[in-house]
Amino acid sequence: MAYKKISVEPLTGTVGAEIFDVDLTNLDAETVAEIRAAFLEHVVVFFRDQPLDIKDLKNFTSQFGPFGIEPYVKTMGEHPEVIAVVKEADEVKTINFGGHWHSDWSFQENPPMATILFGDDIPPYGGDTMFANMYLAYETLSDGMKTLIDPLVAIHSARRSYGTGKSILGTKKRKSMTIIQSEEAHDEIEHPVVRIHPETGRKALFINPVYTIRFKDMSERDSRELLEKLYRHSVSEIFTCRFRWRKNSLAMWDNRAAMHLALNDYDGYRRALYRTTVAGDRPFGPAMPKNEKAA
Ligand code: SIN
Repeated sequence: MAYKKISVEPLTGTVGAEIFDVDLTNLDAETVAEIRAAFLEHVVVFFRDQPLDIKDLKNFTSQFGPFGIEPYVKTMGEHPEVIAVVKEADEVKTINFGGHWHSDWSFQENPPMATILFGDDIPPYGGDTMFANMYLAYETLSDGMKTLIDPLVAIHSARRSYGTGKSILGTKKRKSMTIIQSEEAHDEIEHPVVRIHPETGRKALFINPVYTIRFKDMSERDSRELLEKLYRHSVSEIFTCRFRWRKNSLAMWDNRAAMHLALNDYDGYRRALYRTTVAGDRPFGPAMPKNEKAA
C-alpha cells in the first residue's frame, strides 16, 4: 500500500510497523484513514515521540470508533475509558498485567477491535511488549489442520483472571492496579476458533491461553492438547515482534488478529502505561456465520 500522509516502516517481515511523520494530536481524515490502513496491513503499529495527555489519548482513540467497555479493572477516576497499566518499583515478583499471551477481553460478546497503549513511565530496560500475528498462525497450518479446526467453536471466559478463585494475575499481592474479581467473570461466551476479519476478509486464529477455556462440547482436559499445540504454533518466533517502549511511544494493535504479552523483566523499576480500547463487533467465522442482526 502506498502512503501519502505518513511513512510506514515494517518492524519485521511478518508483523508490526513503525509510523513516522505524524502528530497524533493533529490528524486529518486522510491521515487517520492511512493509519487505519497500516494497522490493518501490519496488525500492530507503533509511534514514537508523541507527548500525549489522557485527553489526547482519548481523542486519538475515538478517531477509530467508540470506546470499548473495560471490565474487572478499576479505570482512571474521571476517565472510565482508560486503564492505567502499572507495576511499581517495589512490586517485585508480582505477576504483571498482560503477562501471558492473550487477546484483550475475548470473553466479551463483542471484544475490542483495537487496543491502544501509551507509554508514560518506562523502565531503563525490560517491559517490552510482544505481538503475534494470528492471520499467519492460521494461514501456515496444514490443510488437514485447517479442516479440523474451521468448524470448531471455543468457549471464552474471564474466570482465570477475574473469577472468584485464585487468579493468574496474583491479585492478592498486587497494589498498583485494582482488579475486581466477581461471579460474573465465570460467564462463558462462544466464539469461532477461526475468525474472519470483518475488514480484511482474512481468516485468523481467535483463541488465547488466558481467556479460551475449551472447545464447545469438549471438556477442558480433552481440549488442552490441541489448544496448546495451536498456541505454540501461534507464537513461533517468525510470527512475532517485540516492541521496546520509550516514554511517549504508542502502540495500536488489531485485537482481532493479534495476541500480545507484556514481559516482566524489570523488577525494581516502575512501568506505567495508559490503555484504551476501540469497540469491536461479534466475531464470525466458518463455525459461526455472520449474524447480520448482531453485527
Ligand atoms: C495489556 O495486555 O494490555 C498490557 C500490555 C503491556 O503492558 O505491555
